[in-house]
Amino acid sequence: MKGVLLHGGSGTRLRPITHTEVKQLLPVAGKPVSQYALEDMIACGIKEINIIVGSVGAAAVKDYYGDGSRWNVSITYTHQPEPLGIAHAVGLTRNFAGGEPFVVYLGDNILHSGLARLKDSFEEGKFDALVALCRVSKPESYGIAELEDGRLVRLVEKPNHPRTNLALVGVYFLRESIFEVIEKLKPSKRGELEITEAIQALIDGGRSVGYHEIKGWWKDTGTMEEILDANRLVLDDIERQVADDIPSQHIVGRVRIMEDSSVDGKTVIKGPCHIGRGTKIKSSIIGPNTSIGNNCSVEGVEIEDSIIMDGCVIDGRGEMRLYESIIGTSCTIKKNDSLKKASKMIVGRDSDITL
Ligand code: G1P
Repeated sequence: MKGVLLHGGSGTRLRPITHTEVKQLLPVAGKPVSQYALEDMIACGIKEINIIVGSVGAAAVKDYYGDGSRWNVSITYTHQPEPLGIAHAVGLTRNFAGGEPFVVYLGDNILHSGLARLKDSFEEGKFDALVALCRVSKPESYGIAELEDGRLVRLVEKPNHPRTNLALVGVYFLRESIFEVIEKLKPSKRGELEITEAIQALIDGGRSVGYHEIKGWWKDTGTMEEILDANRLVLDDIERQVADDIPSQHIVGRVRIMEDSSVDGKTVIKGPCHIGRGTKIKSSIIGPNTSIGNNCSVEGVEIEDSIIMDGCVIDGRGEMRLYESIIGTSCTIKKNDSLKKASKMIVGRDSDITL
């Protein structure tokens, strides 16, 4: 089996962060969102992966994933010149698939339980396609599946009046047969070739389409709230990892601190938290549910439920509280002596804020 990782789209709902960052490369618990998808594919034995990049951020994606040798797999790239939909992107991978079955994983989705069970169900059922389903509270935001007598009968993309709460997760197991139906698809109301409609066409054409309801959580990280939720959920599973030379009397619970970082004795860190490489933390209260990137300098601040990306300088002089914040790469935030209010911020790359 081969893997296709979708890395296109401009992430309009994640602006301003996505003016300067690629949405699927946003860090969640110290790793880009799409790396969870890549590692899920690798964990179930996939060694050939094609990443579909769009016109936004392609260079950053190629720079990060390279040829895959860092993960011991082969990574190649396909360019989707315009954002014409998931099915359009899949249609570009016919040569890459070369007649083999493949899994398509949307790079902004994170699945708690990985792919192994889904892959087994797909292979055991010898299906033409297998979709992953998950019960959600806002079904109108997703592709929705309708079942009859335990069989999948209808898939509808973001219906106004959903008949079920079974959402289509952004993971699709497919075979060669999908390419024939994609060729005949017409653009939807949003001007895209919908994978939901392609799979519906397989059902209508009498092909066997299976489903598997996933256990555990699933996140489509399309909004700031969802990115922070994903950060909380992934952090919930990390193991404590604190080097011996870090004073640990105030480091409570599952806290992961990477190499070359320092934490002074006046700092309290409440897990779960991730602190990247080469980061210095002084006189601060960090956590819970907080990820701080590499090479940051953090002093005199309380931070909870937040993501701070690489290279940030935060100096709160003991009077700054950040919560539910996402701070882009290389930002500087400094406390101004005269103000004493807590702050909530969503800030893009290279911003420089003095409060
Ligand atoms: C896409 C699919 C939708 C699916 C969702 C999962 O939506 O079209 O069926 O439920 O991914 O993340 P989009 O993110 O393109 O709005």
